[in-house]
Amino acid sequence: MSTATENNIATHTLIENRWSPRAFSSESVSNEQMEALFEAARWAPSAMNEQPWRFIYATKEEKEAFDRLGSCLVEGNSWAKNAAALFISIAKTKYDFNGNLNKHAWHDVGLATGNLLLQATDLGLHIHLMGGFDAGKAQQMLGIPEGYEAVSMGAVGYVGDPESLPEVLKERELAPRKRKPLHELAFKGKWKQK
Ligand SMILES: Cc1cc2nc3c(=O)[nH]c(=O)nc-3n(C[C@H](O)[C@H](O)[C@H](O)COP(=O)(O)O)c2cc1C
Repeated sequence: MSTATENNIATHTLIENRWSPRAFSSESVSNEQMEALFEAARWAPSAMNEQPWRFIYATKEEKEAFDRLGSCLVEGNSWAKNAAALFISIAKTKYDFNGNLNKHAWHDVGLATGNLLLQATDLGLHIHLMGGFDAGKAQQMLGIPEGYEAVSMGAVGYVGDPESLPEVLKERELAPRKRKPLHELAFKGKWKQK
């Protein structure tokens, strides 16, 4: 399974245990679980406490709404339609208080989504985020108004059997997770060239 990391420095188990599966089991997620995810998102920090995040979601049981979300995914992300729930994150692009462009809107939607991912991990759920969707179609099909932009989609559920995946996806599912080394990412005091 893809959970293995090459951690030399210990981090919180919620961070260590989070990863993005493509194989999901047929087990459902409840509305209470979904609400807990968005509650975690709600408490994220944001510029001017604007809280520019919005979410639209559906569990598999809400077939029409689930299929509507699923229809926005690109072909390559079709595996996500086997997840127990789908959601889309949306950014409000202008500040409520003065109507100016909120340059941090997508950043803050990302922060809220990060909270959501860790809450999911705590509930034993996994989420796979996806940028591979048709934003224009989502805007239209989901009734997202002007001034709001679709940011990413997420597939939510319990981890399934990698054997259920087509060969190419199975390989990716079982491949070791990789990250750039820390020294290429975090510099003490000043930017450092390699
Ligand atoms: C904004 C965003 C967009 C992504 N888009 C896709 C996507 O369209 N399809 C996909 O299979 N994975 C997608 N991913 C998942 C990443 O590939 C994955 O998070 C990355 O490889 C690290 O793996 P891990 O989440 O298991 O640590 C996306 C992740 C993010 C955060």
